[in-house]
Amino acid sequence: MCGIVGYVGSSKSVEVLLGGLRRLEYRGYDSAGIAVIDDAGLMNTRKRAGKLQVLVDELDRSPLGNGGTGIGHTRWATHGGPNDANAHPHLGDDGKLALIHNGIIENFAELKAELLASHPDTVFTSETDTEVAAILVGIEYQRTGDLAEALRQVVSRLHGAFTLLAMHQDAPGVVVGARRNSPLVIGLGDGENFLGSDVAAFVEHTRRAVAVGQDQIVTIGADSVSVTDFDGIPVEVTEFEVSWDASAAEKGGWSSFMAKEISEEPEAIAKTLLGRVVDGGIKLSELDGIGDDALLAINRVVILGCGTAAYSGMLGKYAIEKWARIPVDVELSHEFRYRDPVIDGNTLVVSISQSGETMDTLMAVKYAIEAGARTLSICNTQGATIARESDAVIYTHAGPEVAVASTKAFVAQVAALYLFGLHLARVRGTLSSPEIAGLAAELQALPDQLAIVLEQHDAIKQLAGWMTDTRSVLFLGRHAGYPVALEGALKLKELAYIHAEGFAAGELKHGPIALIEAGQPVFVIVPSPRAKDSLHKKVVSNIQEIRARGARILAIAEQGDAAVLPYADVVIPIPLASTLFEPLLAVAPLQIFAMELASAKGLDVDQPRNLAKSVTVE
Ligand code: F6R
Repeated sequence: MCGIVGYVGSSKSVEVLLGGLRRLEYRGYDSAGIAVIDDAGLMNTRKRAGKLQVLVDELDRSPLGNGGTGIGHTRWATHGGPNDANAHPHLGDDGKLALIHNGIIENFAELKAELLASHPDTVFTSETDTEVAAILVGIEYQRTGDLAEALRQVVSRLHGAFTLLAMHQDAPGVVVGARRNSPLVIGLGDGENFLGSDVAAFVEHTRRAVAVGQDQIVTIGADSVSVTDFDGIPVEVTEFEVSWDASAAEKGGWSSFMAKEISEEPEAIAKTLLGRVVDGGIKLSELDGIGDDALLAINRVVILGCGTAAYSGMLGKYAIEKWARIPVDVELSHEFRYRDPVIDGNTLVVSISQSGETMDTLMAVKYAIEAGARTLSICNTQGATIARESDAVIYTHAGPEVAVASTKAFVAQVAALYLFGLHLARVRGTLSSPEIAGLAAELQALPDQLAIVLEQHDAIKQLAGWMTDTRSVLFLGRHAGYPVALEGALKLKELAYIHAEGFAAGELKHGPIALIEAGQPVFVIVPSPRAKDSLHKKVVSNIQEIRARGARILAIAEQGDAAVLPYADVVIPIPLASTLFEPLLAVAPLQIFAMELASAKGLDVDQPRNLAKSVTVE
């Protein structure tokens, strides 16, 4: 969950590192630090609790000498609270070595005890697992005089997940890195090279990148890059081109990344569909890695994801079951592998992850691979670990998502899942070509329809502004509206810190209706009365039931739905869409509501408390 960046070159390393950290801050933001080898050839570190700006202010007050080698870190605390001492970098070898870490070293307590037994004078200045690694690498450097070798010796003793970057003042011009179960990407420059948790760390300098593989060690110099496995055997690497530029990860005049990213939702859907709907048919050449025969052989689909990604997976289930007539289960990745699930070579496991690095999902995918399942991932981040572990990947083309709360990635994930559902229906012969063409056309209409929904931003902002004192909001939906209700509640909790719960509307009478009292705000996602198989009447009945008990109804309903008007305090209209497509129009108003309510309360919508964008710990 932390962000890490490394640099070797002739630019001022402090500036390069702070630029990288600014783009990585979404990964964690409770403290930040950098280490550079200064003009006098000495290791210098600065680290501060709080957001990156605290460190930047400190560096403005007392600048560091600028050598061309450095590492930087932005932290999401695991071991030890978010204070200056626990911030990274941590030091070894009498302060000559600096090391940063993303992940968790599970056996750090044992290693610490061993270290104290063998080196009783060792002084620890933090409560972190990372400091143990820094001291161990320092000891190994003393012994071997080779930084990559020192790191190699230490990683073989570590259990858990880690990306480590290290530098030593006696080896200026070199940064080494190692990764296991946490991401690390190399940026290839001209007379300079970079390391980062993801390409955002260096995309303003270069778009040429290499993803470091599992259990590999990388050494960068200004003009050299070498990669080996943990045994020191050189490995071949494959370069890729980052498909977006630095401006895509800037706010571009918006008040927040989240506002910008919601505004990009129509484009995120359109780009995800681009080139994949051809002459009314679905073209997913990415699935060649699995092949039609293998797809025909599967008898079950299991969708895995966490949080928002899992809610998109619920919509995927509804669509795939309806169109391809195959059983689909949706599981939270972190529950999946610990309960001995029944999967085999006839199961297709579809993992969904914006970052492609979520540890719970990665571990679940690995479990599925070991159990012999076929694996497909739906990811937004090129070259991400989950994508590389899977048999095939359908990339969503939502562009970089910087705000911690997922928005445009959600709609892009649903679009990708629907494409896959239609592809599977074609392979299995469960939908005719005209039926597929009709559904594909509905998908393609969504970007324009969603643009119309987004025009109501100001009206939703006003509604949110009236509700800043609200202490609890409920969200109701049925069928495809249910995941939208869950997503609306999640957004409000994580951004505005307000109690919120999403319910399947039919479940209400089985208990939760007891929560309804006078004035309780309830968002209801109302299906279109005109859509085939619509549950419109049932949802309107549910509205009447809670209205009779004093609820304030905030309805998201089709433009002109007269049946809802008499019972709703507020109606947010959306264009006509059939049942499975409506969620892609109904979710944006809830995202905007949560964002604007949080903003009205003076909260940071891009970096909500306690969270980080990519959760790379289990
Ligand atoms: C909520 C949110 C999270 C993520 C979840 C999975 O707004 O962003 O619930 O959806 O942590 O992240 P990815 O998709 O990166 O696996």
